[in-house]
Amino acid sequence: MAFTLKPLPFARDSLGPVMSARTVEHHHDKHHANYVRKLNELTGGTPREDRDLETLIRDTANRDGLDRNIFNNAAQTWNHDFFWESIAPNGGGTPPESVLKGIERDFSSLENFRDRFIDAAVGQFGSGWAWLIAKDGRLEIATTHDADNPLISGNHAVWTCDVWEHAYYLDYQQERARFVKAVIENLANWQFVSKRLVESGQ
Ligand code: FE2
Repeated sequence: MAFTLKPLPFARDSLGPVMSARTVEHHHDKHHANYVRKLNELTGGTPREDRDLETLIRDTANRDGLDRNIFNNAAQTWNHDFFWESIAPNGGGTPPESVLKGIERDFSSLENFRDRFIDAAVGQFGSGWAWLIAKDGRLEIATTHDADNPLISGNHAVWTCDVWEHAYYLDYQQERARFVKAVIENLANWQFVSKRLVESGQ
């Protein structure tokens, strides 16, 4: 099996009360695991089983048929790997200076950034993702539908929040805004954002 389910970088019960252990278990051990399993089923025994995940996503983006199916499962594998890195127990609060400076430059204030991110996440109709991306030396908020992600538009993701219903329904039912607000304020892994910003070279 070429693609593997990465273990969570934290304990399943360490994100409460923002994200319950039950949600984390379902989300990682069932939903995320299923994307990896299906990706292996679709690529096993073909040259694609040894492909780098990001390359495979770019190669299969915006196509139909089998490629579309591979793309969906490859991108959802990548997106979830990225999401689990984006959150952490005892996260949230005020970002480190290097991140805060960029947020204040492009969104006026941390509070305004949070409000705009929540608005964008709520405005994403149906399943999808809300992202903070680095683009042309600036930070921007973006949303994507279903499995789509910033890789396919050549953008560099620095943070994300999963807004598929499976991410929040057990804990928040239909209240997506309350979920996203709680994640930003209490779980955002600003150290990861800082690392991604350095990697962006911007
Ligand atoms: Fe998810």
